[in-house]
Amino acid sequence: MIIVLDFGSQYNQLITRRIREFGVYSELHPHTIRADEIRALNAKGIIFSGGPNSVYDEQAFRCDPAIFELGLPILGICYGMQLMAHHLGGKVEKASHREYGKALIQVKNDSLLFHGLPDEQVVWMSHGDLVTAPPDGFVVDATSPSCPIAAMSDERRKWYGVQFHPEVRHSVYGNDVLKRFVFDVCGCRGDWTMENFIDEQVRRIREQVGGKKVLCALSGGVDSSVAAVLVHRAIGDQLTCIFVDHGLLRKGEAESVMKTFREQFQMNVIKVDAKERFLSKLKGITDPEQKRKIIGNEFIYVFDDEAAKLEGIEFLVQGTLYTDIIESGTATAQTIKSHHNVGGLPEDMKFELIEPLNTLFKDEVRALGTQLGIPDEIVWRQPFPGPGLGIRVLGEVTEEKLEIVRESDAILREEVKKAGLDRDIWQYFTVLPDIRSVGVMGDARTYDYTVAIRAVTSIDGMTADWARIPWDVLERISTRIVNEVPHVNRVVYDITSKPPATIEWE
Ligand code: XMP
Repeated sequence: MIIVLDFGSQYNQLITRRIREFGVYSELHPHTIRADEIRALNAKGIIFSGGPNSVYDEQAFRCDPAIFELGLPILGICYGMQLMAHHLGGKVEKASHREYGKALIQVKNDSLLFHGLPDEQVVWMSHGDLVTAPPDGFVVDATSPSCPIAAMSDERRKWYGVQFHPEVRHSVYGNDVLKRFVFDVCGCRGDWTMENFIDEQVRRIREQVGGKKVLCALSGGVDSSVAAVLVHRAIGDQLTCIFVDHGLLRKGEAESVMKTFREQFQMNVIKVDAKERFLSKLKGITDPEQKRKIIGNEFIYVFDDEAAKLEGIEFLVQGTLYTDIIESGTATAQTIKSHHNVGGLPEDMKFELIEPLNTLFKDEVRALGTQLGIPDEIVWRQPFPGPGLGIRVLGEVTEEKLEIVRESDAILREEVKKAGLDRDIWQYFTVLPDIRSVGVMGDARTYDYTVAIRAVTSIDGMTADWARIPWDVLERISTRIVNEVPHVNRVVYDITSKPPATIEWE
C-alpha cells in the first residue's frame, strides 16, 4: 500500500485514485498521521501531496518528523517537495511570480523517476514558492525556465520531489512518473483488485466489531447498499438493517430493496412502513424547505424509535464516500458544500461508526458493488434525493399526486432504458407542478394535471445541462403518460440548465 499524506491540495484524492488504477492499493491520510501508524499500515511508500500553504506560514501543515526515520521511499509533490526540502535543510523561497498552468521541463538526471522518459516534458505547475537549493544528498533531476529545481532526488534514501503535479492529466508523462515511483522505487507489484479490498475490509470490520451488534440505515441507494452488503459479508447476522419506507419512494423501489437484501443476501432487514406517519405530517404543508425539514426530522424519529427497540447495538454503518468527506470539509480541505441527507442521523446517538467506503470514489463503489454481487438496478441507481418524491410533488403532498409522479416516472424510466439512454443521462425523473390545464380527450373537455419531465447530463450534480433526448423518444413518453396515467392531460419538457435552475424543482 502507498500512503498519501493530505496537505490540503484539491488534487490529492486524484493521487490515490491513479495509484489504485495501477492495481496498487492507496489511501489518503491526514498529514497528522504518526510514523508508527504508517508502519502499522505496512506501507511500501509515502507520497506528500501538494497544498495551499507556504512552508513559512505560521499555520503551515507539517508532518511527524519520525516519518523520515522509517526508511521508506517518499515522493513529495509541489508543497510536499517544498516541505521535504525545508525539513531536510534545503532552501525554499517565494517565486518571483506564481506559476500556474502548463510548463516545459528539461530532465537533467536519469533518476528512477524519469528513467526511459523523454528529456523534455510538458507538466502542470501550480505554486507560489519554489525550492532554490536542494538539501544535502539531493541532486537536481529536472529544471524549467521559471523553476530551477523542478524535480530532485536522493536515490540512496529513495526520496524524490517534483514541483509539478504528476497526478493531473495535463502532465503528459505524469502517470509514468507515478508508476516509476510506485513500481520501480517502492517495489509494489500491481496485483491489487477490488477482491483484495473486500478481503481487507472484511478483516478490518471483524477486528473492529468483534462479537458485537451493528446497525445500518438502508436507503436502497448505492452507497448504503454496498456498505451494508460488505459489512454483512464480514459479520453476517450481527448486522441488522432498518429500511424506512416513507411512502415517498419510486414505483417498485421498496419491493426491490427488500427482495435484494432479504432474499438474495439473506440479511436481517427491518422494514418500517411509515407512510401514514410521513403523509400526515406533510398534510397542508406547501413550502419546500419546510417539507424537507419535516421529512428529514421524521426519518430520524422513525429510525430512533426502531433502533430503541433493539438491544445491545454498539456500531452504526454509514455509506460515507471519500467525496462526502471532502465536500463537507476536512481538517485540510476547504468546505465546498455541506452534505444534506435524510439519512443524517442525530449526533447524540452513541454509536461507533463503521465507514468502509470512506476511501473510495463513486465509480469505485459501483465496481465494488458489482463485485459483491449487488444487482445493476441498485449499483447503477441514479441519484435520488433523501426527501424523495416529497420534493417532486410541488406544493402539498397527497397520495393522489404521489401516485401520478410514481406512475409517470416509471414510464419515463422504462422508455429511457428501452432507448438505451439510461447510462448516458445522469438523472431523469418526472415532476408534478401544482397546476392543471384544459385538454380534450375523446371529444370531451378535461381539466387535469401537467407532468414535467426533467432529464440532465452532469458529472457531479453541481452543474448540469438538459439532456437532448431524441424527439421520438420524448413523443413516446408523452403519449404513454397521458394515456396511462389518470388525471394527466399534458406533458412538458424542462429545458433549463443548472445554473440558473437546479436539477430538482424544489
Ligand atoms: P439540485 O436540485 O440542488 O440537486 O440541483 C443536485 C443533486 O442533489 C440531489 N438532491 C438531494 N440529495 N438530499 C439528497 O440526498 C437532498 O435533500 C437533496 N436535494 C437534491 C438531486 O437529486 C441532484 O442529484
